[in-house]
Amino acid sequence: MTRLDAVREHLITLDVRDKNWSASLAAAQQRGPEIDLGLAEMSTPVFTLDLAGLEHNITTMRDWVAGNGVSLAPHGKTTMCPALWHWQLSEGCWAITVANEAQLRVARSAGIPRVIVANEYLSPQGLAWLAGELDADPGFDVITWVDSIAGVETMTRALAAAGARRTLPVCLEVGHPKARAGVRDHDDAVAIARAVIDSDRLQLRGVSGYEGSVPGQGEQRLAGVREFLTAMGELFAEISPLVESDEALVTAGGSALFDLVVEILGPVAAGTPDARLVLRSGAYVVHDDGIYALSTPAASRRGPVFAAAAHVWARVISNPEPDLVLLDVGKRDIPYDAGLPMVQKVVRAGEVVDAPSAEVFNTNDQHAYVRLDEPGSLAVGEVVRLGLSHPCTMFDKWRSALLVEGQQPRVRGVIPTFF
Ligand SMILES: Cc1ncc(COP(=O)(O)O)c(C=O)c1O
Repeated sequence: MTRLDAVREHLITLDVRDKNWSASLAAAQQRGPEIDLGLAEMSTPVFTLDLAGLEHNITTMRDWVAGNGVSLAPHGKTTMCPALWHWQLSEGCWAITVANEAQLRVARSAGIPRVIVANEYLSPQGLAWLAGELDADPGFDVITWVDSIAGVETMTRALAAAGARRTLPVCLEVGHPKARAGVRDHDDAVAIARAVIDSDRLQLRGVSGYEGSVPGQGEQRLAGVREFLTAMGELFAEISPLVESDEALVTAGGSALFDLVVEILGPVAAGTPDARLVLRSGAYVVHDDGIYALSTPAASRRGPVFAAAAHVWARVISNPEPDLVLLDVGKRDIPYDAGLPMVQKVVRAGEVVDAPSAEVFNTNDQHAYVRLDEPGSLAVGEVVRLGLSHPCTMFDKWRSALLVEGQQPRVRGVIPTFF
């Protein structure tokens, strides 16, 4: 079994309009979607995923969740890449998480059997579509969230109008002050849970929340996260006996604080009959060289060690001042909302070697500005590898990703994204 086998059935032949397209790749793909090309043969810019890094992250997280007795429903919105979702499911993930109806449709089209919609889902048209899908396929399981009586009523009305035959499982979303959705008050939460039970179209499945939106910095934020998770656990203990299915779900956890989720909610789930704690970490699958490198549990506490698997390769197109070069990438190609990319490697004489010290200090839509520590250390025409910060805003800029393998990366195939 090679790493490519994990995604082989999702490999695509690239269209000339795709940003990752190169004439060499098209020529190679004429024989089939599996290829073996040096990166030097590719046009720029390109977005790459390292197969070894992906495999490391997927199997490392698999082992960590198994070792801690919890389940994982990776947030699929990070990549919107069903090829990776199927790889994650084949390594034991319990479900795929999405954020909205459009993403749920991608998951449904990709044949994902169980999906968590980690959000309020209230569109009557969307609920009518979902009711049709659920009624047509008893093997399709979708769990959505609700945080208000108005939400319960809206969903109930829409599902009744659509003639839904199956009840729709929902988790009660718990929030925290100064953040986004999620009921704030304990008594309100219990009242909403009861409204779900009273609805003939909804089924109470558990309690959900997201610790990643707790505001603040450093130790004070961690204290806020612990407080939030503790309150979530207390609510879960109260609501779990009311759950209308064989198993009560409690779900939280992104890629930065999942160790605390397991520390606090793990014992609550273990002490509750027929309970399942589900993490929803998404960014871990490609990790990064920026904010997640700094915020993953292993950076400051203890936890699994992930590899940065996603990169963008760009070309120096101008050197208008001695210490300034411009790259052929910009805001449309590289994330810029949580730190700018890092110049890590350069291709020299066909070899990928460490890059000279240089800093990306600005981006426009189609340009990146790089300050060189040593004037002249990057030359016009040279190709550099950029390390990226923030997985959630890497993939949305690309309709595909090139899969690469090896220290001197070879392009082995292409997989699509669906944004
Ligand atoms: C509700 C929810 N769950 C899970 C996640 C996944 O977190 P991460 O991107 O840190 O993996 C997110 C990310 O924004 C989220 O909004």
